[in-house]
Amino acid sequence: MRQKVIFGNWKMNGNKEGLISFLKKVEKAIKKSDVKAGLALPFTLLEIGINKAKIIDIAAQNVHFATNGAYTGEVSIAMLKEINAKYVVIGHSERREMFGETDETVNKKAIELIKAGMTPIICCGETLETKEAKKTVTWVNGQIKKAYKNISAKDALKTIIAYEPIWAIGTGKTATANDAEIVCQKIRENLAKIYDEKVADQITIQYGGSVNPSNISELMSQKNIDGALVGGASLKADDFIALINYKK
Ligand code: G3P
Repeated sequence: MRQKVIFGNWKMNGNKEGLISFLKKVEKAIKKSDVKAGLALPFTLLEIGINKAKIIDIAAQNVHFATNGAYTGEVSIAMLKEINAKYVVIGHSERREMFGETDETVNKKAIELIKAGMTPIICCGETLETKEAKKTVTWVNGQIKKAYKNISAKDALKTIIAYEPIWAIGTGKTATANDAEIVCQKIRENLAKIYDEKVADQITIQYGGSVNPSNISELMSQKNIDGALVGGASLKADDFIALINYKK
């Protein structure tokens, strides 16, 4: 049975004072839960988050694949490693849409992060047009195939996938648990073709896109949904605690 993995993604939100207060408030709930909890933070909050967090994993929201160099505004894997970051969200639809992230750069980042001993959280997801054209599975599995190019089975086990339908992100229009399950099942079947069933069965697949305390329980009850990547509903400690306590 795969462990449930719930990560918040604060995107471009938060400050030091609020983060310290958040971490203190959520600690007890996470300790009492069997969920693996994490929080993807802006670069400016990463080091304080990593140093203050006792039982919640801290993730960066992006990284550059180059070792170093003339990439103004970017952050390298070595820089994240220096502050003990263990997880990095890559390929988020907002990075793809607004900042030039591609399947090819996602693949490069995934390879380099695994080499550095870090865990990439590889995002995939379709637009509303693709969904309406009934091309979701083809689209998402194309993203997965490219993301995992030249990644061995052993290294694939060091990754997490986050299926985030773009039309559900920040809209309040969550995918139904059944629809999300179907796509996550197809992703897992695709992983079984790329690798084998044993590997596919071990890779964590999260759902993201307007997850909140009222819908998380049904989503998490699905066979192929192993967790959630939550934006808006992760910003407040009380909401995050409700997400962690989804079984109650
Ligand atoms: O990475 C998670 C994010 O894209 C989902 O955002 O606000 O729809 O939960 P939200």
